[in-house]
Amino acid sequence: MSQKIKIMLGVTGGIAAYKSAEIARLLIKNNFDVKVVMTRTAEDFITPLTFETLTNSKVYQYNTVEKENPMLHIDLARWADIILVAPATAEFLSKILHGRADDMLTTSCLAFDKKIILAPSMNKNMWENKATQENYQSLKKRSIIFFGPEFGTQACGDIGSGRMKEPEDILKDLQNIVKKKPKSFKGKKVLITAGPTVEYIDPVRYLSNRSSGMMGCEIANAFHNQGAEVILVKGPCTYKEQDEVNSIEVKSAKDMLSSVEDNISDCDIFVSVAAVSDFTASKLSKEKIKSDKGLTLELTKNIDILKIISEKYNMFSIGFAAETDELKKNALKKLKDKKISVIAANKVSFTDGIDNENNSITLYWGEGLEKILKLKNKKDLAIEFVEEISNIYN
Ligand code: CTP
Repeated sequence: MSQKIKIMLGVTGGIAAYKSAEIARLLIKNNFDVKVVMTRTAEDFITPLTFETLTNSKVYQYNTVEKENPMLHIDLARWADIILVAPATAEFLSKILHGRADDMLTTSCLAFDKKIILAPSMNKNMWENKATQENYQSLKKRSIIFFGPEFGTQACGDIGSGRMKEPEDILKDLQNIVKKKPKSFKGKKVLITAGPTVEYIDPVRYLSNRSSGMMGCEIANAFHNQGAEVILVKGPCTYKEQDEVNSIEVKSAKDMLSSVEDNISDCDIFVSVAAVSDFTASKLSKEKIKSDKGLTLELTKNIDILKIISEKYNMFSIGFAAETDELKKNALKKLKDKKISVIAANKVSFTDGIDNENNSITLYWGEGLEKILKLKNKKDLAIEFVEEISNIYN
């Protein structure tokens, strides 16, 4: 019989704590060994007895003392294979970032040197607050794994990011982590374009497209994490890919095409996420154009990198279609016209789809096949995207 995986389930004081009971139940049902550690405020929302009954095991409270074992937090940290904190409040994120150790859960976390997973839960403004976002980024850099949060209606009535993932989804994510599935793109080479391109009009002005580069960088990370050798060719953007991803920075569509062509020949897959500027100035002015008069610009249609690559190289290629209207019709037209294998379409407007953390996409491929990837943060969406592409590609 294989050994059970030992989970320390940390419960902190947020309204989603009532869902932790379901997480504990699902973990037990799915053959995990579970010990629950609660913070003081978690007990305002749910009683230790609930967890004791569900796990059939002692629950550790913020001030649990065992006379015969003053090193309880060390023992708990040694016992667990994974610490999963769900819900993890904004306060808890801040506490473990700063190495605070003032109760059973924080001391156990500090004494723990394996995988820590946090499932944040908080009001959207608290999640979006710069302090929380900085804590979140710093914790990720320390290899702490995040499940969610998700976008949706919150207990306070607000709609936004900050909802804890549903217990079933947390279980699924955890199973994916412990399953050690074989990496689906091992041995494959993937070239990805990301970010906008800029097309100069004169030495100080340019045309560009709105793009944070986040989706392309996260897709590059997700392919890398699935074992692919990744080359990321990206236009000017602030979003950063993981350090292990090879990236080449470019400015114009012409530069982007030339970098892609330099690297594409031994690639298996081309993913064109870049928001390539559709137009370029017909004439580049060497001098700064004076602004005292109005200016009429003549624009030329830019080179279509995706079309050129898919026509010239016979490889699996994926395009993106950001559409304000007639999503399916426009996406299917691009799938056909650009002769690509898959198109990932998403709705955009002045406020949605670009420059924000969440997105949803629909994949179209083959003869009328489609798959909707629901609204979620772009990091998780990229992971799901790569999973789906692996189903289509393999
Ligand atoms: N693309 C490209 N080069 C361009 C324009 C687009 O490689 N000059 C790629 C994008 O990276 C994306 C796909 O083509 O994968 C679709 O881009 P989009 O701008 O939506 O399509 P266009 O063909 O430019 O059509 P339109 O802007 O008219 O909707």
